[in-house]
Amino acid sequence: MSEQVEQTPYEVFGGRDFFTRLVAAFYERVSNDDVLRPMYPPGSLDAAEWRLRSFLEQYWGGPTDYSDQRGHPRLRMRHVGFAIDATARDHWLMHMREALDEQHLPPEQDHVLWQYLQGAAFAMQNVADEPPPGTVFEADPTR
Ligand code: HEM
Repeated sequence: MSEQVEQTPYEVFGGRDFFTRLVAAFYERVSNDDVLRPMYPPGSLDAAEWRLRSFLEQYWGGPTDYSDQRGHPRLRMRHVGFAIDATARDHWLMHMREALDEQHLPPEQDHVLWQYLQGAAFAMQNVADEPPPGTVFEADPTR
């Protein structure tokens, strides 16, 4: 009888090595970013790197180090203290896109991970977009 062993996405992407490389490439960029760097207290990037890496590993079916040490992620709540507007969100995504490009995942795996990261980054935005330039708000004439 042949037993089919299901691989987790964590394993399919490349396990610890993959997530370590991805998140290191990401924070390398964050450390040189004028919008994002000021959000992280000086000297905190190594710890931040551990948190993002272990969170992503756990999310994709890998080890549960993140919750073992940090409890339930409650990510939106944990970001409330940082003013994340569309600019910050887009910087985050731009660096993550470049970090992901460097990993050369097969297209279908890249797609799955990127869809998730985009959705998560948009969900983490907590300062609303400015209305487009020229937008005029008029009083409702029926009121
Ligand atoms: C949209 C733009 C985002 C910005 C500007 C941002 C910024 C930050 C900052 C400044 C911190 C605190 C430092 C730290 O503890 O790491 C943080 C924490 C964290 N972020 Fe984000 N973040 C963003 C999106 C995301 C996304 C999309 C994810 C997950 C896919 C994520 C996962 C995390 C995790 C796991 C932590 C640590 C939470 C904890 O255990 O305290 N972040 N983020």
